[in-house]
Amino acid sequence: MARLNLGVLVSGGGSNLQSILDKSASGALDADVRLVLSNKPNAYGLERARLAGVPTACLEHASCPSREEYDREMVRLLEEHAVDTVAMAGFMRMVTPVFLDAFHSRVLNIHPSLLPSFPGVRGQGDAAAYGVRLSGCTVHFVDEHMDNGPIIIQAAVPAMADDDTKTLGSRILEMEHRVYPQALQWLAEERLTIQGRQVVVQEARPAASPAGTTVTGALVNPGLENGF
Ligand code: GAR
Repeated sequence: MARLNLGVLVSGGGSNLQSILDKSASGALDADVRLVLSNKPNAYGLERARLAGVPTACLEHASCPSREEYDREMVRLLEEHAVDTVAMAGFMRMVTPVFLDAFHSRVLNIHPSLLPSFPGVRGQGDAAAYGVRLSGCTVHFVDEHMDNGPIIIQAAVPAMADDDTKTLGSRILEMEHRVYPQALQWLAEERLTIQGRQVVVQEARPAASPAGTTVTGALVNPGLENGF
């Protein structure tokens, strides 16, 4: 098993980054965050990184003439910090094959819906407006399509008739903070195998029962392990 040298990409508040930093600090996640990179100079995620003593970089899209150029520059910065695995954590940009080829099968993303439902930038609000009874979050490997790659873990939470983006989003976020570090730990333990669209998690626990989670009625599949 190797520790992950993580690059975390953020565009906003960075609460998922914080959960990764916290699980690394507690020892549950075998990872060192080497660089936090943002496309937004005022992203609070950058401040969280600074507070944790992690190097930061900001790359605004205006500074690069094309998506490929932008991705090449991101790769350069990440490689400069010896990053071997990338976690997109609220990073609101798609990446091109230039980026994916540099970190082959080592780019993960978290999305606040049960994919393939409600991809895009408003997953929580779209699900609430649609009137679904269950929503949740998905951690998946990234490919060149939006919110599309093979799924590693999903957590489902109840959605209520009076939910809006905020109320449903915060219920989902609570689970995001648990499943993302768990998925990264499986990667660190070399327990993930991609077979087409399927991700096999070696010795995965069966889906966690509601009693095994902190959110009433939440269902997590595969089940979470100790420390997550
Ligand atoms: C999270 O809910 C994440 O799932 C979502 O952005 C939020 C970032 O929150 N990502 C997407 O919608 C990607 N399509 P955070 O900055 O507090 O981690």
